[in-house]
Amino acid sequence: MAAIEILGLTKTYQVGFWRKRPKCALQPLRLQVEEGEIFGFLGPNGAGKTTTLKMLMGLVYPSAGSARILGCEINDPRMKAQIGFLPEQPYFYDYLTAAELLEYYGQLSGVDAKERKRRVSEVLDRVGLPNVSGMQLRKFSKGMLQRVGVAQAILHNPRVLFFDEPMSGLDPIGRREVRDLMEELKRAGKTVFFSTHILSDAEALCDRVAIIHQGELRGVGAVADLTSSVQGKVEVVWRGNTVLPSVKTLALDSSVTGDTVRAVVLEASQDALIDTLRRERLHIVSVTPLRTSLEEYFVQKLRPAEAAAGVRS
Ligand SMILES: Nc1ncnc2c1ncn2[C@@H]1O[C@H](COP(=O)(O)OP(=O)(O)O)[C@@H](O)[C@H]1O
Ligand SMILES: [Mg+2]
Repeated sequence: MAAIEILGLTKTYQVGFWRKRPKCALQPLRLQVEEGEIFGFLGPNGAGKTTTLKMLMGLVYPSAGSARILGCEINDPRMKAQIGFLPEQPYFYDYLTAAELLEYYGQLSGVDAKERKRRVSEVLDRVGLPNVSGMQLRKFSKGMLQRVGVAQAILHNPRVLFFDEPMSGLDPIGRREVRDLMEELKRAGKTVFFSTHILSDAEALCDRVAIIHQGELRGVGAVADLTSSVQGKVEVVWRGNTVLPSVKTLALDSSVTGDTVRAVVLEASQDALIDTLRRERLHIVSVTPLRTSLEEYFVQKLRPAEAAAGVRS
């Protein structure tokens, strides 16, 4: 069964004070996320990521379309107990302690009273806040509050997790910890759907990603497939301090750094180049097909007009 099925969800906000006019935040979106996947929902600011997540959470009413989570409609209370949500800017009561807050959320999501205390300290440990359960939240840094938000989302051991920009406000170590946590959730068989505009986090973590821009889905696929669209070019690196003229004629691009030479050739010229280097008894360090990075793919998808016209960087 698919964990999340988005069936044409659409959102148009009415903006303006006196004279309302429609603003399309999300064009009909169709997307399916399988159980056990880490799925990245990527897009620049204003793309429509939060709007999509809010509709899935039932916080905003869709203008059209529907969605199912674990086979249930989005307003089905049986399903709500199976999902966890980290909002983009979680806001908590200043004068509660982390433990009190989580205790409260545990009650709301029906965690058994006897279980609750143990679960609260377990998740605080898990998100890297083991010694602050008695501290009031007003004393927490932005990064610490983000961790409390993550703790709140996983407290009731849900099957599907929705995180809106989970790495925002975290330092590199904090980001790494959230990434590790997501991987751990995946190993435990959970489904994770998260939005981000930080591509490196998505590249390292996701089974599949979708890219949206201006409310429109621009691409979806496995990170490996999107980034392995080899451009038919190969990078060859060898020991040396000059680019031989015979190599220059084969190479699309070449450079010398210290005692290393790097050249990019078309796949078709790869054997000829390697033969030349062998004849010259030069030591070959590496031969690597060039891949499109997720960033390049992303930038291409954000510039559809130029991409369609065949303009490539
Ligand atoms: N409550 C709202 N009323 C009017 N416009 C909104 C509202 N929420 C979001 N928008 C607009 O919808 C678009 C998508 O916003 P959002 O979903 O927050 O994007 P993202 O999370 O990808 O940054 C933006 O242009 C934003 O200004
Ligand atoms: Mg957002």
